[in-house]
Amino acid sequence: MHHIAMQQERLLKVLVIGDLGVGKTSIIKRYVHHIFSQHYRATIGVDFALKVLDWDQQTVVRLQLWDIAGQERYGNMTRVYYREAVGALVVFDMTRYSTFQAVLKWKGDLDSKVALCNGRPVPAVLLANKCDQQLYGLCSKLPKLDTFSREQGFVGWYETSAKDNTNIDAAIMCLLENILASSTDRDLHTPEDSDPNVVILPSFDYNLHERAGPGCSACSKLKERRE
Ligand code: GTP
Ligand code: MG
Repeated sequence: MHHIAMQQERLLKVLVIGDLGVGKTSIIKRYVHHIFSQHYRATIGVDFALKVLDWDQQTVVRLQLWDIAGQERYGNMTRVYYREAVGALVVFDMTRYSTFQAVLKWKGDLDSKVALCNGRPVPAVLLANKCDQQLYGLCSKLPKLDTFSREQGFVGWYETSAKDNTNIDAAIMCLLENILASSTDRDLHTPEDSDPNVVILPSFDYNLHERAGPGCSACSKLKERRE
């Protein structure tokens, strides 16, 4: 494991938020475990998943995804859950307009409860999920998402499908690039005086974790991009 010790690890806490049943858990399961199920089981409170990515030669990203229950916006726990998050995916369901209307409430909730050290909002990407169903959806009713997402302070938006695996990797990559770009130099580079053989491990107790294997599409894409 010597090569790991020479790299720096960045632990990134990312929130996945949005109304009930929009597909947050499905997106995470697709991204981390490469599976999809039609079966709906509402998340209670919060769930966790971890994906480890070789970001570049020096950096390993430990992406900690916080899967917040859709019903939580009405509860009191989000302030606790949002602490120290550095980014968010805000998800709505392309077939249900009410979930799109709720996007602004979720974004407002996010920005009122967490910010970067410099006071700026944490990067957030908007996901129009279930795009495999858009024939039955509300495309015509939606405003132009380009304009909407820019005006509402999202760093990007994607039509996604957890079912068909559409744009999930791309959306998360976009978020990670923004998160890493918004970090200070001090965060990004190992300080000269630090011991390169020491890795500071997060003290977080993971419920679920998976090391991304060589077959992980996101990782191989990442490596291609970085080479
Ligand atoms: P809560 O935990 O209650 O907040 O819901 P959630 O946002 O985690 O939704 P979940 O991932 O559990 O998905 C809800 C339902 O939508 C499930 O039946 C999924 O199979 C379905 N679903 C999720 N993503 C997609 C998608 O991209 N396309 C289609 N067709 N169905 C999806
Ligand atoms: Mg869920």
